[in-house]
Amino acid sequence: MNIAVFGAGYVGLVTGAVLADLGHKVSLIDVDHHKVEQINCSQPPIYEFALDSLLHRVISSNALYARTEPSGEVGQAEVIFIAVGTPSLNDGAPDLESVHQAAVTIGQHLTPLQNCVIVNKATVPIGSANLVEMWIDDGFTQANGQPAPEGTFSVASNPEFLREGRAVHDTFYPDRIVLGAENPAALERLTSLYRPILEQSFEPPHQLPRPQGLKAVPVVTTDRLSAEMIKYAANAFLSTKISFANEMANICERVGADINTVMSGIGLDNRIGPQFLNAGVGWGGSCFGKDLSALIHTAREYGYEPRLLDSTREVNNQQRRSVIKRLQDELKTIKGRRIAIWGLAFKPGTDDLRDAPSLNIIQELIHLNARVIVFDPVAMDNMHRQFPDWDIRYAPGPLEAVDGAHALVVLTEWDIFRQVPLKDIVNRLESPVIIDARNIFDPALARRLSIRYRGIGR
Ligand SMILES: NC(=O)c1ccc[n+]([C@@H]2O[C@H](COP(=O)([O-])OP(=O)(O)OC[C@H]3O[C@@H](n4cnc5c(N)ncnc54)[C@H](O)[C@@H]3O)[C@@H](O)[C@H]2O)c1
Repeated sequence: MNIAVFGAGYVGLVTGAVLADLGHKVSLIDVDHHKVEQINCSQPPIYEFALDSLLHRVISSNALYARTEPSGEVGQAEVIFIAVGTPSLNDGAPDLESVHQAAVTIGQHLTPLQNCVIVNKATVPIGSANLVEMWIDDGFTQANGQPAPEGTFSVASNPEFLREGRAVHDTFYPDRIVLGAENPAALERLTSLYRPILEQSFEPPHQLPRPQGLKAVPVVTTDRLSAEMIKYAANAFLSTKISFANEMANICERVGADINTVMSGIGLDNRIGPQFLNAGVGWGGSCFGKDLSALIHTAREYGYEPRLLDSTREVNNQQRRSVIKRLQDELKTIKGRRIAIWGLAFKPGTDDLRDAPSLNIIQELIHLNARVIVFDPVAMDNMHRQFPDWDIRYAPGPLEAVDGAHALVVLTEWDIFRQVPLKDIVNRLESPVIIDARNIFDPALARRLSIRYRGIGR
């Protein structure tokens, strides 16, 4: 099929590249000139495992190209995805300006009776498909002097569930695909677009073998409102699971139990499951905080007080603050102390810093006049670019960061951190304090090495 994708970020670029690899003809449209240039040179503007080889393949076979403005692509597309960003406004509601702009642009370029399915992949408040429909019609009317005739386009919702760090994997091998549309022909078109993924009939890319036993991907077909709500409910549940683990960790710490054993113990119950129960510094990233705020905002708009969701957010904020409290407990004054930070990205496998706990913690440390030295295997360039004025130093490796530091704080559970022997760390530290906010080290070993070790809930 001829596909156009508006927004070449984490979602748009990965979706576009995977669909191109499956044999579709894809054009990416993004307002960011630099991003478009990078993509057309086969250079991924973001760090994601296996994206570089995938992009190289689809660009060199002309299956995908990027542009800053649409020309003929929109008028010929059978499916157009909207995958632009929807960041939070100050009141927690999502900012739909980019969605608005993309929808109007699409409307301006559609041809009458085109029979195109426009798919909202961005996470948008419940009911936004109606708005998108209206905005596309506005664009069409601006360009043609009259509203789009019946049969020109229909709007569907297809929320995205990929995880950063595993975005390409999740797009080839999703847990499910959710399609929301009132129009049966639109549903049929999208089902046929996704068929190779639904039936797992494609040849797996060599870096990404098919997970064992995966024979088919479930599809949920529903109305647009329910599809939009599925996305918010999924993220609200996942963030609640982590806040629950952190609440249990805080109780474990007080009574002397070990959170890792407690969570393994409950995770064996099939009704609970083992995933997403890691206690630590809490969730971050571009989605959980934003989507939770949006759902809370929606609930209040309709007169419902979402107490559980409020608490999920508050436990997470408190978890970030508790890292500074633990440092103060160990070092007393932070002023003039040299603090090593391992990990800037909000989770391993990505260089994304959006709503990363490291940002709040480093800001607070700078405010308290600490000297901060950081190391992250992939996110340091982003940090430097986004926060050039922050008074921090960048270390070339994990051990260089701890050289002469008064404490080490672990904020991202990158595998390479687990491989650094504790005794090498303690030899380099000025004082043997480790705040392990991701529980990557063994507390018993730390005790044997006389480290003042503080994990979360252990
Ligand atoms: N990142 C994730 O892990 C993830 C997962 C699931 C869902 N989502 C949702 O998907 C949406 C996109 O997220 P993302 O992380 O890919 O965002 P992103 O910020 O990485 O990318 C958005 C892109 O849209 C471009 N853009 C903005 N306005 C545009 C316009 N009018 N026309 C064309 N391009 C435009 C921007 O330049 C940017 O490159 C959001 O609603 C997000 O909540 C994200």
